[in-house]
Amino acid sequence: MVKDIDWANLGFGYVKTDYRFVANYKNGAWDEGQLSTDEKVVINECAGVLQYAQTCFEGMKAYRTVDNKVVCFRPDLNAKRMADTARRLVMPVFPENRYVEAVLKTIKANIDWVPPYGTGAALYLRPYMFGSGIVIGVKPAQEFQFRIFATPVGAYFKGGANGVALRVPDFDRAAPRGTGHVKAGLNYAMSLYPIQEAHEHGYAENLYLDSATRTYVEETGGANVIFITKDNVVVTPKSNTILPSVTRRSLMYVAEHYLGLKVEERAIPFEEISEFKECALCGTAAVLSPVGRIDNKEQTIEFDYNNKGIGEISKKLYDTLLGIQMGLIEAPEGWIREIE
Ligand code: PLP
Ligand code: COI
Repeated sequence: MVKDIDWANLGFGYVKTDYRFVANYKNGAWDEGQLSTDEKVVINECAGVLQYAQTCFEGMKAYRTVDNKVVCFRPDLNAKRMADTARRLVMPVFPENRYVEAVLKTIKANIDWVPPYGTGAALYLRPYMFGSGIVIGVKPAQEFQFRIFATPVGAYFKGGANGVALRVPDFDRAAPRGTGHVKAGLNYAMSLYPIQEAHEHGYAENLYLDSATRTYVEETGGANVIFITKDNVVVTPKSNTILPSVTRRSLMYVAEHYLGLKVEERAIPFEEISEFKECALCGTAAVLSPVGRIDNKEQTIEFDYNNKGIGEISKKLYDTLLGIQMGLIEAPEGWIREIE
């Protein structure tokens, strides 16, 4: 039976659910892995994750569709991205097919935590991996743990009638440059200071510019960004130092193949933003969250959505993507994995 929770008012937080998946890497191999009811992680004080932040994570969602099926959105792409991240951080890859199986197994074990259709909530899956083995010289750990927990979540951004506000911080995200587009703990830790500062000043997020020239738009601390031109072209930054968002890729596909819109992935100078008519953040947590204002030092750029909370094209993109995820619109081959 679905849990008795006030789903419509659920925020983006952690709720302990019944089962999580745990696998260990030792002597050069991953064990079978199993579901566990224990949410606690016990590791040595000298574990690689604690000393040198050797850790990475992923995020995806499971939903209940209109015909009450439980589905997961494109877990294979998260599996591939985590494998890429692991290789970059000198961690053993948890095989992609086993990753997808483990995600589906974790959802199934927590099926009562998947929110009912139509509530706007979802079950968020958080796969992560960390160096559990001891290291004191600067080098990779030899032992690792891979885990997946599930937590029911609501909206990440709460936009007003005209979307959320962003600011361009006057310093870099401070992610160690050269790590590229990995989804790693250390990159996020380095963004906590600017994110806290943004929140203190009333902004939902920081919009980072490229750190080499501070000219081009990159992404925010927890989401990619898309823009709509006055001619209804969907534009998104081309960069190899932003996280390759599964949501963004899906939205660009939806724009082109479902809505017949022109799409462009290209360098976007900050100066061009004032010419766009819509802006939105996109990601698993963000889904598609309209942006109403961007402040950059003395300059303020505003997007006017006529108090409707979202621009016309953004709304079409949102409705189509959600329609696909909720089983209202036929999905492209392989996008939806049903939990049997
Ligand atoms: N960019 C950053 C920095 C993120 O943390 C996320 C969220 O995972 C995204 C973009 C969006 O990626 P995805 O759509 O795969 O969730
Ligand atoms: C996600 O969207 O899955 C993320 O990891 C973003 C995070 C800020 C919650």
